[in-house]
Amino acid sequence: MAQQWIDFRSDTVTKPCENMLKAMMNADVGDDVYGDDPTVNELERFAAERHGFDSALFVSSGTQANLIALMSHCERGDEYLCGQSAHNYRYEAGGAAVLGSIQPQPIENESDGTLCLTKLQRAIKPNDFHFARTRLLSLENTIGGKVLPLSYLAKARGFCDEHQLKLHLDGARVYNAAIALNIDIGEISQYFDSMTICLSKGLGAPVGSLLLGTTDLIDKAKRIRKMLGGGMRQAGYLAAAGHYALLNNTQQLSIDHDNARYLAAKLNELEGFSTQQYQVQTNIVFVDVDPRVNINQISDRLKHQGIIITPGYQGMRLVTHRNISKSDIDRLINALT
Ligand SMILES: Cc1ncc(COP(=O)(O)O)c(C=O)c1O
Repeated sequence: MAQQWIDFRSDTVTKPCENMLKAMMNADVGDDVYGDDPTVNELERFAAERHGFDSALFVSSGTQANLIALMSHCERGDEYLCGQSAHNYRYEAGGAAVLGSIQPQPIENESDGTLCLTKLQRAIKPNDFHFARTRLLSLENTIGGKVLPLSYLAKARGFCDEHQLKLHLDGARVYNAAIALNIDIGEISQYFDSMTICLSKGLGAPVGSLLLGTTDLIDKAKRIRKMLGGGMRQAGYLAAAGHYALLNNTQQLSIDHDNARYLAAKLNELEGFSTQQYQVQTNIVFVDVDPRVNINQISDRLKHQGIIITPGYQGMRLVTHRNISKSDIDRLINALT
């Protein structure tokens, strides 16, 4: 039997529960590249309707979902506006530029994760052949665990309409945002031309993301997914897990958020650790560590006790998820004491 780690690195480490595995085992499958997989078809139908879009596409990862979205909205020589901290600018190997010939135009994120609309306006290129064509604004919610206010989303929609831009959401953790605001997901998704959702983070599926959009956008996206090698065959086994996650695992994200607040409060009682600079809004806890504390040594010591963290420069990021309980947090705190 494999060792049961207490893993604070990310919510991507979550493993399927027994009922999810049963749903996967019992899935009715076919060749999805032929459009024959009933479980994928049902997930895409359900996801489109549930989130208020015409159409949906099941893809292998959040990175692929973002790349397909950018390549579906933009042509070669086009540009998308995004945050300096955006996952689809910073952490996706420059895919939009490398594979889509799409130029990113990043803007520094404000402390609440939003992008200043005045700065964005200044970054839009004039309609002149010297410049790339600015086509799209891409936001992320949650971003670094922060929830974008609904009032900001409404303004961003107005801004895009005024400047003839499309609006995309990297919604890898958009359910965390909806649960933190205690609203239906539709109140967020209504503002966007396209949105991604990761099924394999806090929602607990082993693999898979969704891209949601108009019928035309998703038709284009399907071709690009194939081009990127993302056409999957009996993908229904994975889609069954994703469908299970959407039906059963969204509400429990509030437990992860409670646990993150509990973790932050406990860390603040310890000498040398502080989360005071950061507000814990969802399941991600950023921690400053006193320079006299050797965080790498601590990380090694914790590993011997079955606890995994990612040490950073004088700090760390800890993530709560469905495979971390309150008593696991107590174990971490005891180990740090
Ligand atoms: C905000 C955000 N978007 C996209 C991704 C990419 O997801 P994946 O790891 O499935 O490619 C991540 C992954 O952590 C993420 O945090």
